[in-house]
Amino acid sequence: MEKNKEIQFPDNFLWGISTSSYQIEGGITNDWSEWEKENANYLAERAKDYYADWQVKKFPGMLSRENYICGKACDAYNRFDEDLKCIKSLNVGAYRFSIEWARIEPREGEFDQKAIEHYKNQVKKLKSEGIEPFLCFWHWTIPVWFRDKGGWESKTAVEDFMKYARKIIDELGGEVEYFITLNEPQTFTGLGYVSGKFPPGVKSLWRANRVYKNLIKAHKELYSALHKKLGDDIQVGMSNYLLYQSAYNFKNPINVLLVKILDYIRGYRFVKAVNKHQDFIGAQYYHHDCIKLTLGGPFLVFKVEHKNMEVNDLGWEIYPEGIYHVLKKLKKYNKPIYITENGTADNDDDIRENFIKDHLFYIHRAIEEGVDVRGYLHWSLLDNFEWAEGWWPKFGLFAVDKDFNRIPRESSKIYSEICKNNKLQYLKS
Ligand code: BGC
Repeated sequence: MEKNKEIQFPDNFLWGISTSSYQIEGGITNDWSEWEKENANYLAERAKDYYADWQVKKFPGMLSRENYICGKACDAYNRFDEDLKCIKSLNVGAYRFSIEWARIEPREGEFDQKAIEHYKNQVKKLKSEGIEPFLCFWHWTIPVWFRDKGGWESKTAVEDFMKYARKIIDELGGEVEYFITLNEPQTFTGLGYVSGKFPPGVKSLWRANRVYKNLIKAHKELYSALHKKLGDDIQVGMSNYLLYQSAYNFKNPINVLLVKILDYIRGYRFVKAVNKHQDFIGAQYYHHDCIKLTLGGPFLVFKVEHKNMEVNDLGWEIYPEGIYHVLKKLKKYNKPIYITENGTADNDDDIRENFIKDHLFYIHRAIEEGVDVRGYLHWSLLDNFEWAEGWWPKFGLFAVDKDFNRIPRESSKIYSEICKNNKLQYLKS
C-alpha cells in the first residue's frame, strides 16, 4: 500500500529540540564524571564483546578509553550563542535543556550565583527569539556531595533536591512556562539500581524501589512548589521512558501477560503514580522490544528477540508504529502529551529523515484518533555524550567536530522545513 499524503499538524502544535546539561555542556564535576573515570577502561575493554561485530568495525572509537570520558563535551556551556543559531535555524518554537544541579550547588547549601546567571541568560536569550524554554530540573546527574550522602536512596534525598529546586524556582521561575521535573526516572532506576550499568552501579530491587519512591515524592513536591509559587499559568510534567513492548508469541497468554507486567514496571507505573501531579505527560520513545519467554536454567526468563528488524547504529530496532501504540496507551490518563524526546543514533544520516517522518506520521495518526499530543521535541540538537556508550553514537541534527564547530546534517534541514510549515509531505510505499 502506498501512503502519500500531506500531514498537517494542529495549529499551535509546538515543535522543539532537546538536550541535557551533562551531555553537552562540558567541564562538570558530578557523580558521572567521577564514575566514568573509574569505569572508562572497563567499558573500553568490554566493547569488543558487548557490541556486534559490525558495530565494532564501524565505530572502532568505542574501543578506546577516551570514548567514555565526557570532558569538555560539546563545550555548550561556553557556546550558547552558537547553539542558539542552530536552534533558530530549525524554526522550532521550544528548546528543552536541563539545569546542572552540580553547577548550581557544588557544595551542600552553597549556591553558585554565576551559574544561576548563566541559565537565566540562556532563558532570556531564548525568549527574546520567541523560543519557549522547556526547563528540566534533573537529567540524571547529581552533585558529588549528594552522592556521598547516599544519592536518591538517602533519607534526606527529597529535602536536598527540593532546596536546589526551590532556588531555581525563585531565580528563574517567573520566566518559564514549561517545566520538566525529572527526566526518565525509569531509566535512572533501571540502569543505576537494577542492571547496574549506570552509576551508582547497584543491582538491587530493594534499593531500586527506595529510589523509585523518592523520585516520585520529589516530583510531587516539586510540582506543588512550582504551582504554589508561580500559579496556574505554568505547565509541569515529568519525562517518561516509554518503549513499545510486544509479545514474541502473542498467542501465548503467559507471554502476553509478561509484556503487560513489564510495561507497567518499566514505564507506566511512573506515569500513573504522578498523574494527579502533572499538567502534561512527557513521553520519550526510541524503540521496540519484542519479548520472548525462554528457559534460563530451571527458570522461565525473558529476552528481547526481534523477528524482522531495521536497526540504528546502536542496534535499536526502528519501529515508528510503536509511538502510536504508546500514545494510545497514554490516552487514558487524560492529560496533554508532549513528546519530549524521540531521535536516533545515525552517524551517516541515512535513516534520520525517514525516522522523523515515519514517527510523525504515527503521531499524527494518534492525534487524529483523539490523543491530545501538543508538541514534538526531537532528540537531539548536537552529537552528544551518550552516557555509558560514550561518544560514538550520533544523535545530533548537528555534528560537532573536534574544534567544537556545529555542522548541520541534511536531516536538520528536513526537520527545519517541517517545523516551519507545521506539516510534511509523506510518501512511503
Ligand atoms: C535520555 C537521553 C539519551 C537518549 C538516547 C534518553 O533516554 O533521556 O539522555 O541520550 O535517551 O539514548
